[in-house]
Amino acid sequence: MAGAIDEQRERYDEAARAARDGTASADPAALVEVRGLAVAAGNLIVQSGLTFDIRHGEVLVVMGPSGCGKSTLLRHLVGLERPVAGQVLLAGHDLHHGDADELAALRRRFGVMFQAGALWSSMSLGENVMFPMRLFTRLPAAERRRRARFKLALVGLDGGFDLMPAQLSGGMRKRAGLARALALDPELLYLDEPGSGLDPLNAARLDELILNLRHHLGTAVVLVTHENASIFAVADRALFLDPLAHTMTALGPPRDLLADGPAEVRAFLQRGVAA
Ligand SMILES: Nc1ncnc2c1ncn2[C@@H]1O[C@H](COP(=O)(O)OP(=O)(O)OP(=O)(O)O)[C@@H](O)[C@H]1O
Ligand SMILES: [Mg+2]
Repeated sequence: MAGAIDEQRERYDEAARAARDGTASADPAALVEVRGLAVAAGNLIVQSGLTFDIRHGEVLVVMGPSGCGKSTLLRHLVGLERPVAGQVLLAGHDLHHGDADELAALRRRFGVMFQAGALWSSMSLGENVMFPMRLFTRLPAAERRRRARFKLALVGLDGGFDLMPAQLSGGMRKRAGLARALALDPELLYLDEPGSGLDPLNAARLDELILNLRHHLGTAVVLVTHENASIFAVADRALFLDPLAHTMTALGPPRDLLADGPAEVRAFLQRGVAA
């Protein structure tokens, strides 16, 4: 397995070289290409040597023990923080270099729900979902309302337009956060621990919702989680960030990794399973 990853890295490094030389034919399956990325939190380099693709329409899980750097990686993938080294390319465009207009146009292409992602408590659900539309589009108010109602219906909150966040259960709040991340019809969604704090039933419902989005809208989803139930339910592929090696040590379908991944990845995926 480690061999397979090394092979993959070599292929990607070759592709990155070819891209720099202008001889590349980019992988048509790749929506985002992460190349030799090193990310820091404060003064600490938490992960480096990260090279992987996010493919059109896939669900890619980013997994690993608490503190391994999942949220840190996510902040870099969305362009909020500058990498120590390496690149994040969205449809071939570097997410960390370019003029402000170019970067804004790139960032509009994905939706994000952060780990601590709260709704704006002084706004109704409808206003929360319409807010990105007001910021980034010139849609007339009636159209913003129509679209916000549609997004809320997608996450099972039909009729919730005028509710205030304080009136909602935890699960409803998470779903409303998802509706807001969907506001601009992104082709890619980044979700950091969307199921945390939910009971298993509501967490499973959220997984189902993510799969539905992918199925009906073709949205690619990068899901940060350490919940095994979610990983096996939704991931096409899972990326393991090792907290000791400070790099990725596995990338593949979770069942393959469970069967013949590196020992620490198998152990991670077996948590909670009776021996
Ligand atoms: N602003 C910061 N300054 C210094 N260290 C930080 C900062 N933010 C995070 N860290 C450290 O960086 C490491 C990675 O943190 P991160 O939040 O990315 O982990 P995580 O994998 O998302 O964890 P969890 O599963 O608990 O959400 C941790 O050791 C954390 O303590
Ligand atoms: Mg985190």
